[in-house]
Amino acid sequence: MRLVLLGAPGSGKGTQADFLKAELRVPHISTGDLLRAAVKAGTPLGLKAKTVMDAGQLVSDDIVLGMLEERLSQGDVRSGFILDGYPRNLAQCEALEKLLARIGQPIDIAIKLEVPSELIVERIAGRAAAQGRVDDTPETVRERLRVYAEQTEPVASHFARQGKLQVVDGVGELADVTGRILAALPPERASA
Ligand code: AP5
Ligand code: MG
Repeated sequence: MRLVLLGAPGSGKGTQADFLKAELRVPHISTGDLLRAAVKAGTPLGLKAKTVMDAGQLVSDDIVLGMLEERLSQGDVRSGFILDGYPRNLAQCEALEKLLARIGQPIDIAIKLEVPSELIVERIAGRAAAQGRVDDTPETVRERLRVYAEQTEPVASHFARQGKLQVVDGVGELADVTGRILAALPPERASA
């Protein structure tokens, strides 16, 4: 199963991917997590990305694609993967499709988690208090939501045009949301 998880900041992509990876037995690949690891390690790439991430903007397509290519070259993705946070604009969408066509592993389905903005602001405020992610300040969250609407919403429309988009209600108990996602997957692939 090759699954793309779409949804605004705070919609629950990372939380749900944690459950789904166990259920589907495929790795969870989050470009945000990969970037935060690079920032923490203080690599040149991490230093470059930090300022952009702290401002709630998108890191350059080249940097993120390079990181993703490296991750997708690892053996554990043979059974599939859950992509979280990529693609984030139409250029990344095109790059991903080219990359996956080259290895004969197209995306099976894109799931978009839908959560109202008021609830998103509430959830991120909760996470900010618990974890202190640098980009979880109210101003940066506003910018991340703006960037999502402008750059990432068109990616959802792109998958919809290909007949690959399922929109899932992301509000409610964690297990209920996971159940809705699993129910939206193509049946013959749900346990692949
Ligand atoms: P990224 O790490 O991808 O962040 P994001 O998309 O803004 O999403 P979040 O991680 O904030 O939210 P989430 O949907 O994972 O929600 P979560 O499960 O944590 O990107 C960060 C930055 O990196 C970007 O701004 C950009 O700079 C850069 N970047 C990353 N990818 C890039 C790319 N491809 N190109 C360029 N730049 C890139 O849940 C949120 C909170 O809600 C948690 O506290 C959780 O416990 C809670 N919660 C979850 N589900 C529920 C529920 N059902 N009920 C109640 N609470 C819930
Ligand atoms: Mg996340």
